[in-house]
Amino acid sequence: MTGRPPRLVRDPEGLNTAVWPVPTDQLVTPTDLFFCRSHGAVPALDADRWRLEVDGLVERARSYSLVELAGAFPRREVAATLVCAGLRRDEFLALGPLPGELPWGPEPVSTGRWSGFALGDLLRAVGIGARARHVELTGLDAVERQGRRFGFGGSIDLAKALGDEVLLATELNDAALPAAHGFPIRAVVPGWIGARSVKWLGRITLREDPSPNYFQSKAYRVQREINPQDPRDVSAGVALSGVPLNAVIVEPVAGQVLPAGRVLMRGWAMGEAGRRLASVEVSPDGGSRWIRARTVVESEPWTWTLWEAAVELARGSHVLVARATDCAGAIQPPALSATWNVKGYGNNAWHRVAVRVV
Ligand code: MTE
Repeated sequence: MTGRPPRLVRDPEGLNTAVWPVPTDQLVTPTDLFFCRSHGAVPALDADRWRLEVDGLVERARSYSLVELAGAFPRREVAATLVCAGLRRDEFLALGPLPGELPWGPEPVSTGRWSGFALGDLLRAVGIGARARHVELTGLDAVERQGRRFGFGGSIDLAKALGDEVLLATELNDAALPAAHGFPIRAVVPGWIGARSVKWLGRITLREDPSPNYFQSKAYRVQREINPQDPRDVSAGVALSGVPLNAVIVEPVAGQVLPAGRVLMRGWAMGEAGRRLASVEVSPDGGSRWIRARTVVESEPWTWTLWEAAVELARGSHVLVARATDCAGAIQPPALSATWNVKGYGNNAWHRVAVRVV
């Protein structure tokens, strides 16, 4: 790919944007090419006045300024790929409309080098109550849903929260977090859907049960049966946590017209919940013949792997396909119908890209 990829804007306020094709020649996405997904306006926060409240089932509830965090905890770093749960939702539109949901294609994914403090260090410092099982993260933005305004939030289970990889990040790619990505501090929960990496973090609450926040209890849930009383309601579904195994073709792009002969396919893949991959394969003919792809940029533990594979294409229309398996044996379903759900989350059916060869 040459030149700067265009940024697609998925909502009228311009809060939800991503470049396509995403750069696949380097592990880390440059910050100005990172996708943005915000459910409300970006809050203007003053780093000197910002405080983090830590409460709930802790032994010593307290609040921290940024200076206090820096004095109390060592800095840690993690490279992590953020994947929006709505990635590849647009493919579901072939099966029917998904009213009220952003029609993301394969573009809301980026890899950052994050640095900040380990959430686990902070939790151990305040003392984890015996009944605590979930860690609720709440942002300082004001999102409106069902006639109420509240901070975007959600929860992760305590075992994940204590993993060294889960950060309260103040930096992305060696610079202060940009406002759109959570300044002055955000959670980064590697391997889990992007929604749990709460931006503009203001409160951490230890709880016995998952967060009652709308974005944990009423959205970001996989539900395959439509509730006839309220067709958009997914509260009976299963809350999303780890990202599903996925392999995505980035080049060529859908609808591209190519000269006959050798075509280089490029893309990314990542195992379920960030696990390592066992293989990535591509098919030049809709899934009859498969060729193993080659790794071009090796992953770090919580990042995507970037791959490429050359295929020979004769004149005509072709459907290129990619699929991966991970080291725990997870595979991707061939058919979209196997992954369809009411709000169109977590699509990881084989990725198909139609091209025309002349
Ligand atoms: N945090 C807050 N406070 N508000 C939000 O709207 N969006 C979430 C998550 N954290 C969101 C948030 C979602 S759905 C995703 S995919 C990621 O942030 C996107 O992070 P980015 O905008 O830095 O790419």
